[in-house]
Formats: sequence, structure tokens, C-alpha cells
Amino acid sequence: MLDLKEYGIVMWDAEKIVSFRRTLLDWYDREKRDLPWRRTKNPYYIWVSEIMLQQTQVQTVIPYYERFLDWFPTVKDLAEAPEEKLLKAWEGLGYYSRVRNMQKAAQQIMTDFAGQFPDTYDNIAKLKGIGPYTAGAISSIAFGLPEPAVDGNVMRVMARLFEVNYDIGDAKNRKIFQAIMDILIDPDRPGDFNQALMDLGTDIESAKNPRPDESPIRFFCAAYLNGTYDKYPIKLPKKKPKPMQIQAFIIRNTKGEFLLEKNIEGRL
Ligand code: ADE
Repeated sequence: MLDLKEYGIVMWDAEKIVSFRRTLLDWYDREKRDLPWRRTKNPYYIWVSEIMLQQTQVQTVIPYYERFLDWFPTVKDLAEAPEEKLLKAWEGLGYYSRVRNMQKAAQQIMTDFAGQFPDTYDNIAKLKGIGPYTAGAISSIAFGLPEPAVDGNVMRVMARLFEVNYDIGDAKNRKIFQAIMDILIDPDRPGDFNQALMDLGTDIESAKNPRPDESPIRFFCAAYLNGTYDKYPIKLPKKKPKPMQIQAFIIRNTKGEFLLEKNIEGRL
């Protein structure tokens, strides 16, 4: 267990933690967005939504989500789907490796978990394409497990709450935010707790245009109370990308036809 004091973070006492959970969840109960994946506990549906939401906005995702589940209503349907149909379902969302990984994970569920969606964090995290964030989201939303779902939004909100002086863009600092969330997460409503932070982080506590005076948790927020809101989160500029030289060849025959080869995952 990571010692937050070593990172200059003073955790609240138990009473304040309970009060924080109640304040956040009361706000969520009043203000939560009515989204299709919030009307289900089916882990497969929630998984599909979380993968789509990784790089795509909520409003864009909704019709894709509904069509995807119409075309592939179960894990088995996804595992057995022909590639062309799979890619068609994803057309417009981009990052096709996401859906290719989903199919591999669906096949893993069929072979390694007898077709049953795994119901522990560790087993969910074994599935292809599922990292700590997605494993936390599925565990908490579908199975009610007290697992945080730490993404950029959550790190931003936590950094402001506790004036965390560590770069949220540096992967090795993620454990600090994970440790804060391990303590704060509501064990009775972990899925709602995580989703409340998602809603807060994408709107009132957004990166570009936050409205701190409207935040339901402003009176818990050290940065708000100390007038340092603009300083947090700490996000240092990324190192410059290294230039790369690449050669490409075009092969054309005497009839003017081009040689085409289907792209293989992981290659440019
Ligand atoms: N972004 C990622 N997961 C989400 C969820 N479950 N609800 C709303 N936005 C999200």
C-alpha cells in the first residue's frame, strides 16, 4: 500500500470521507446523464460502452453502441463475428485495434471462462485490450466491486482535491491517484462513484473550461479553497517526439494495377 504522506498528500479522516461520498453521490443522483449503458448491469454491454468511450465522445458513441449490440448481442456473437462485419460496425469510430482486441477478448471469454464474463478484477484485467481503467470500470459498474477507474478526468479531479504536486501525464504517477481513489471510493456504490467522477471530470471539472464555483465538491477541494485551482493538475509538456525515416514503395504492373495488401494489426 502506497503511503500518501510520502507524496505530500494529507488524507481526510473517516467522517470527511463519508461526507464526500454522500455529497458526490447526491449530486450524481440529481444530475446524472441518462445513458443507455447506465440502464444495465450486463458486463458485456458495459465493456462495449467503455471501449467505445475511450477515444470517442458520449453523443457519438450512443448510436454505435446500440447498433453494435444489435449486431452482436452476446459475447459469443462477437467471438464468432466475421471480420468484415466487425470492422463495418466500427467504421467511423477509428482505432480499429480496439475492436480487433475486443474480438480476441471475446474469444478468450469463450475458451478460458466457459463463455461467462469474468467477475473479478484480476480476471477481467487478463482480457486483451483491457487495462486498469477499463477493468476498474467494468468491475465497479457491472459487479459492484470497489475498484477505482482512474483516467485523466479522475486524476485531474483528485489533483485539485488534494493539491497533488505530481505530473498527471507521467504514467508512473498513476499509482498515487489510484491510492487516493482506493480510499475514497464508496464501497456501497462504487460504479456510481466512478461514473459521478467521469461526469464531473468531463463537464464542470473539465480540463479546458472548468466551472469550479459549480462543483458539488468544491468545499472539499484544497485547490479551490486555497486559491490554487489554476495550478492543478500539474501537467508537464511531453518530450518531443523523435523523427523517424520511413520508406514506402508502390508496386504497379504493366496493366496499371496496384498491389494491395491488407494492413496487419500493429503495423503502420
Ligand atoms: N466515459 C467513460 N466511461 C463512461 C461512462 N460509464 N459514462 C459516461 N462517460 C464515460
